[in-house]
Amino acid sequence: MQRTVVITGATSGLGRACAGELAGLPEWTVVVAARDRARGAAAARALGGGASHVTLPLDLADLDSVRAFPAALDAAGLPPLHAVVANAGIQHRDRRHTTAQGYEATFAVNHLAHFLLLRLLLGQLADGGRVAIVASGVHKPQRLRNFGFPPPRWDEPERLAEPGPGSGQIAYANSKLANVMTALELARRIDTLRPGAGIAVHALDPGLMPETALTRGYPAPVRRLYPRLAPLLARLAPGATSAAGSGGQLARMVADPAYAAPPNGRYVELTRDGEPSPLARDPELAARLWSESERLVGGIS
Ligand SMILES: NC(=O)c1ccc[n+]([C@@H]2O[C@H](COP(=O)([O-])OP(=O)(O)OC[C@H]3O[C@@H](n4cnc5c(N)ncnc54)[C@H](OP(=O)(O)O)[C@@H]3O)[C@@H](O)[C@H]2O)c1
Repeated sequence: MQRTVVITGATSGLGRACAGELAGLPEWTVVVAARDRARGAAAARALGGGASHVTLPLDLADLDSVRAFPAALDAAGLPPLHAVVANAGIQHRDRRHTTAQGYEATFAVNHLAHFLLLRLLLGQLADGGRVAIVASGVHKPQRLRNFGFPPPRWDEPERLAEPGPGSGQIAYANSKLANVMTALELARRIDTLRPGAGIAVHALDPGLMPETALTRGYPAPVRRLYPRLAPLLARLAPGATSAAGSGGQLARMVADPAYAAPPNGRYVELTRDGEPSPLARDPELAARLWSESERLVGGIS
């Protein structure tokens, strides 16, 4: 049976690697959901398969663009939607960057926009479909495994969405915690939102992939050094890997029967099931994030 997967952030790094894996399976049509038309088209072309893989416009820094996406997907006349991979992500050095709606960019792109996208696409997902949300080990307070990255400092969602002074790395860690909370909360609610559909929802910590473009907001010397350290880190550090390795894992979470529901709400660390942080597993915090995110995106409809 032919099926479609929507992947955010498939123009680069982990998303591109995942798209390449899925495009290699004959039944999958890949939609590269991209903010830049030319980069999206180049990424879709590079997947091969003639015109079967396509790009559609999606700027996660603008909720209006997110709202327009489901209709564009519908109009593209592709095979039934079987999977959504919420992968795109950004990391800034500070918290001053804003989106079209005036929200702090890291929280808004990594969490709020994906929250809205997933909620809007749920109705289009075929029975037995999959949702995979890319999170990160930095949502856990484990500095050593996270190579010194600061842990999250959770707050009311409204304050996390407010731009201002402060560390971009902490904003990133908070956004990744929001990704795990959303995956677990969606897994808890999925049978109410789509009764009997058997949709699987999981989260992935892909590990450290030093060769991706995630550090593009960092100073030039760091950007130059980081990819050079990549092969060494990938061999020596326990939480380090490559985009190709984790792209394969992300594709399995979408295509492999081993990740069909039940069970729902698995948190995979690199290739094995792991345990999200206690904060991520707190159902009250997650329910609050859920209702506040609905409010911040201006409602789901
Ligand atoms: N790299 C790591 O070590 C690491 C570790 C843990 C988790 N992760 C997670 O892995 C995921 C992928 O990151 P990566 O490392 O592959 O980084 P990357 O190479 O920088 O890729 C990020 C992707 O997100 C897209 N994107 C950024 N802003 C967007 C927007 N406003 N609208 C639509 N798309 C947007 C980029 O598109 P453009 O081509 O238009 O820029 C790009 O395709 C992220 O969720 C990240 O948090 C990464």
